[in-house]
Amino acid sequence: MPVPLLDLRAQHATIRDEVVAAMMDVVDSQLFILGAAVERLERSVAELSHTKHAVGCANGTDALLLAMRALDIGRGDEVITTPFTFFATAGTIHNVGATPVFVDIDPATFNILPDAAAAARTSRTKSCIPVDLFGQMAPIEAVMGALPGIPVIEDAAQTIGARRSIDGEWRMAGEVPTIGTFSFFPSKNLGGYGDGGMIVTQDEALAARLRRLRMHGGAKMYFHDEVGYNSRLDALQAAVLQAKLPHLQGWSAKRRSNAAYYDRAFADVPEIRTPAVDPANESIYNQYTIRTDRRDGLQSFLKERGIGSAIYYPLPLHLQPCFAYLGYKKGSCPESERAAGEVLSLPIYPELTKAQLDEVIEGVRAYYGH
Ligand SMILES: Cc1ncc(COP(=O)(O)O)c(C=O)c1O
Repeated sequence: MPVPLLDLRAQHATIRDEVVAAMMDVVDSQLFILGAAVERLERSVAELSHTKHAVGCANGTDALLLAMRALDIGRGDEVITTPFTFFATAGTIHNVGATPVFVDIDPATFNILPDAAAAARTSRTKSCIPVDLFGQMAPIEAVMGALPGIPVIEDAAQTIGARRSIDGEWRMAGEVPTIGTFSFFPSKNLGGYGDGGMIVTQDEALAARLRRLRMHGGAKMYFHDEVGYNSRLDALQAAVLQAKLPHLQGWSAKRRSNAAYYDRAFADVPEIRTPAVDPANESIYNQYTIRTDRRDGLQSFLKERGIGSAIYYPLPLHLQPCFAYLGYKKGSCPESERAAGEVLSLPIYPELTKAQLDEVIEGVRAYYGH
């Protein structure tokens, strides 16, 4: 039985009528750019994230870019982040003219080490972007505590609806930092039918500036206070996402129960390390990522059996050719480099059947002779 890494058609089949109706409302209105559908989704995402403001934009990459522009980050500035993440986190730092400063990750959670972030601070440090990798939040309060006075942008592209217990209270992804950013790329837990992104903040002035920046830098049509971008959330995407949003919690809970099922089944396979979730976190398992010394062999073996898997991420960003100018060498971020050689993400999507989960489990166990 084939088990793809992700099966978006299986999900679409369960919500087709609701989504198509929502899309047709937009089509019939012929209002495609911003407008009521986008405003409604902005209110819903702000509510979900416990933030005062949410600003839709074209994708999660632009969400980071706009966030940095709104914080006046540019040439001569340094932004601290981790190299074990999707390229956009650091690509956008470069694209605003600033310098990415890479610090290593916690090998258990793959998230930033607050002490390493503090140690990397210089007089040019203008921000820090902790990434909430694979569905669990970075230790956002510890990062903010380690960098007093530095605005923090939480890259929550993979983590909408995840939460973390801070001082005994549940805090949502995007709630605590200066700015939080989301992606609605189709493979995310809340994925659009195309690209989309959103920025959340508690700060009204930042929200107003973000709204201007996504519309060429002007609050009023044809009048520009600064040079911005064309980065708007499409009304059709907003309608799709609004229709999907009521399902998000259930889908993420199903991912958690799939993860627990795998965890139990792999408990006696010493060759692999199952994902570690910080006890303060509730993960939404955008990925279920195991570690093993024999990763490439396992991936080929699973592929032969029709089981999908993926390597997120095979080369840490500090060693990417485009960042050679920064001067990092192999060994600069050893935990990120080790993770890149050992990680493998397995199918975890909510529509997986028990038979499919068992197929994945059997494949992994068989490879190690269990
Ligand atoms: C950690 C991280 N940051 C940023 C992005 C960029 O989002 P998008 O693909 O919507 O531009 C993604 C997703 O692809 C991501 O996983």
